Amino acid sequence: MTDFSDKLLFWYDHYHRTLPWRIAPADLLNGEKPDPYRVWLSEVMLQQTTVEAVKPYFKKFVTKWPDVFSLAKADLEDVLKAWAGLGYYSRARNLKQCANQVASDYDGVFPCSLEKLKKLPGIGDYTAAAILSIAYNQPAAVVDGNVERIVARLFAIEEPLPQAKAIIKNKTQDLTPSTRCGDFAQSMMDLGASICTPREPKCMICPVDSLCKAKKIARPEAFPVKPPKIKRPQRHGVAFIALSRNDEIYLEKRHSSGLLGGMTQIPNQFGDQQTYSVADAPFSEKWLFKGQAHHIFTHFSLTLDVYLAENVEKTRAGNGWWCRLDQLDNEALPTVMKKAIAVAFPEIFKSKTRKNRTPQKHALQFSK
Ligand code: ADE
Repeated sequence: MTDFSDKLLFWYDHYHRTLPWRIAPADLLNGEKPDPYRVWLSEVMLQQTTVEAVKPYFKKFVTKWPDVFSLAKADLEDVLKAWAGLGYYSRARNLKQCANQVASDYDGVFPCSLEKLKKLPGIGDYTAAAILSIAYNQPAAVVDGNVERIVARLFAIEEPLPQAKAIIKNKTQDLTPSTRCGDFAQSMMDLGASICTPREPKCMICPVDSLCKAKKIARPEAFPVKPPKIKRPQRHGVAFIALSRNDEIYLEKRHSSGLLGGMTQIPNQFGDQQTYSVADAPFSEKWLFKGQAHHIFTHFSLTLDVYLAENVEKTRAGNGWWCRLDQLDNEALPTVMKKAIAVAFPEIFKSKTRKNRTPQKHALQFSK
């Protein structure tokens, strides 16, 4: 549907956002070339949070480390420090590893192939397609949540997510022009951010409204169709945070088989039994009730009562290990455990509930 890309690109030429990592269409036309390093850096940062939040971090990074070699040479600790406040530290570690690999294995040049890009640390489907499209002007289908929404509306796709993802990817590929690929991907991002918004889309000023089926049937907000709500049995449990004098918490490894097999946990109990209580604590301490954590698993919903004991003698605990609160990032904690810990230490959890939320500066951060 070249009509779609023509209309959208015409709109983008006039109304594109000016962003520190972006080359304006007129400058591209004048022969300016995107720098794959800057494209990659911005896309990794944008996996984390909003465009507004990323801007100062991007500027700081490219001033300190203007190319992939300088980032590869940098001290990991300095990179982590510069990343502080942007979200998951594991992404910063991947960023550094990726820079090291591109510098050593690719002579500092990001590869121009989806397969090779996806083998690099921290680069998944979306980021690989974005780099290919924006940095190398290749017709890759760049599909994030914004694009899913636009395409689901454009074709009024009745298939609910996530099943609709494959259909949407194919449609996006069909919509992607063979020239100005990078501009097209970015025009979709701008359309999703400013006009085709999740709620109250501004169809009146949409450049592609005449092609949009959802607009035609006056139901833009009905798309993308959400999956039907599943009724799950409700289970109850308890979780225990033992905190040492040095701000370390007691952790243990789950059995290698079964739910969350082999992952890290704080001591907890939940299962088929109706209720659990503080009597199910792993050892006797002054356990204080701190609140509840809620989590939805595929087959049941869980509410955990969370207890905290402070100044715990480390010798009291079992065969697990102790981890400083600010080192939890390095532990294989499943989301349910992070939620339980966040009941007692809410500042830890604040920045990581959802992508696209601005992470709190100085908040402790977890990897996913
Ligand atoms: N979101 C993800 N990548 C982006 C980009 N390159 N420009 C604007 N928003 C984005």
